[in-house]
Amino acid sequence: MNIGIIGSGTMGAGIAQVAAQNGNQVIVIDTNLVALEKAKKGLDVTLHKLVEKQKISPDKSIEIANAIVWNNNFEVLQNCDLIIEAIVENLTIKQKLFADLEAIVSNECILATNTSSLSITSIAAICKKPERVIGIHFFNPAPVMELVEIVPALQSSAEITSKAKSIIDSWNKKTVTTKDTPGFIVNRIARPFYSEAIRIYEEGMASMETIDHAMKVVGGFKMGPFELMDLIGHDVNYMVTETVWTSFYFDPRYTPSFTQKRLVEAKWFGKKSGRGFYNYAEETVKNEPETADQVLLDNIFIRILVMLMNEAANALYLNVASKEDIDLAMTKGVNYPKGLLKWADEIGISNCMDMLDTLYDEYREDRYRCSPILRRMVNFEEVFYTNN
Ligand code: NAI
Repeated sequence: MNIGIIGSGTMGAGIAQVAAQNGNQVIVIDTNLVALEKAKKGLDVTLHKLVEKQKISPDKSIEIANAIVWNNNFEVLQNCDLIIEAIVENLTIKQKLFADLEAIVSNECILATNTSSLSITSIAAICKKPERVIGIHFFNPAPVMELVEIVPALQSSAEITSKAKSIIDSWNKKTVTTKDTPGFIVNRIARPFYSEAIRIYEEGMASMETIDHAMKVVGGFKMGPFELMDLIGHDVNYMVTETVWTSFYFDPRYTPSFTQKRLVEAKWFGKKSGRGFYNYAEETVKNEPETADQVLLDNIFIRILVMLMNEAANALYLNVASKEDIDLAMTKGVNYPKGLLKWADEIGISNCMDMLDTLYDEYREDRYRCSPILRRMVNFEEVFYTNN
């Protein structure tokens, strides 16, 4: 197939690599020639490393490099079957691009956006053929992360949705389908991993080292919340939280924290700027977690976990995605050790409800409200999966 990628930044370059690796002809367009050159050089380095690690053969590396054309002229996109846009996260700029693209491409070309936070429906609305517009949301780094969220706009046709899904499935990705709602699946359900960890830290219940330790050692998560936020970057992570919160009409469930906002204001963005929650200066030694108190570690872990489960259950309750897709999304999109709904079954739905109710009773804050689906399931003695 002929694939067009618009934007040669972090995501565009990664998606281009994925498309080329899977036998497609790829055109990458960027208005910024410096960005194009940087992406091309970056891909050469990546391919070289993949050959060195014997992940791909030298022939395959040449094949991938030759399959990609780097250009700043949009006219060359006229024969594309699918275009994936990965430019700056700005609705007006994206809408203008989609309107311009429609004047160039064939009637059959699928127009996709990789947006993380904008409504796909609002991008489709600018187009003459809105039914061909869809969200195809990759995770960073696109060549490594298996998950892709397929997000039909309100206007997307069923045919385009299934076509887009089967194309991405054929690129060795795991696709999940989600409603066009803020944060889609992953960026919505993952919020408490960060916000509840910060809340526990703000309360002085434990240090960030201890909270990270609890999630890794007790919970089996690959990274602790503070380490992960530092890696993602607080500029990005805070912005996602704020966007999800405002998009949900300021639902207290998603309220951002001043603690993280101050980091952004200080430009302590995390690993990339040398300092975030942790200090990455070479001479700095990380504090040891207070590992002695197993009860504390268990309490931290379970509090964050039930908040995540509540979010996953509520997404299912509101038909954002199927239970299988919700569980797949969290294991493949953010590497959670288990699907949250399957995990909730294991812990016991009534235990989850009780823990949430205990938090709610203590704090009287809406963020701890238990999803109606959990309450209902307890009443009817139901589980998410019958064959656990
Ligand atoms: P980036 O800033 O690394 O790259 C954006 C590129 O688009 C730049 O090279 C810029 O020159 C180019 N560009 C800007 N306006 C353009 C236009 N009108 N026409 C052509 N090229 C243009 O951005 P990044 O991080 O790759 O993000 C791109 C999109 O992917 C955004 O919508 C973002 O929300 C989404 N996304 C980002 C993820 C991430 O972790 N960085 C993860 C998933 C989605």
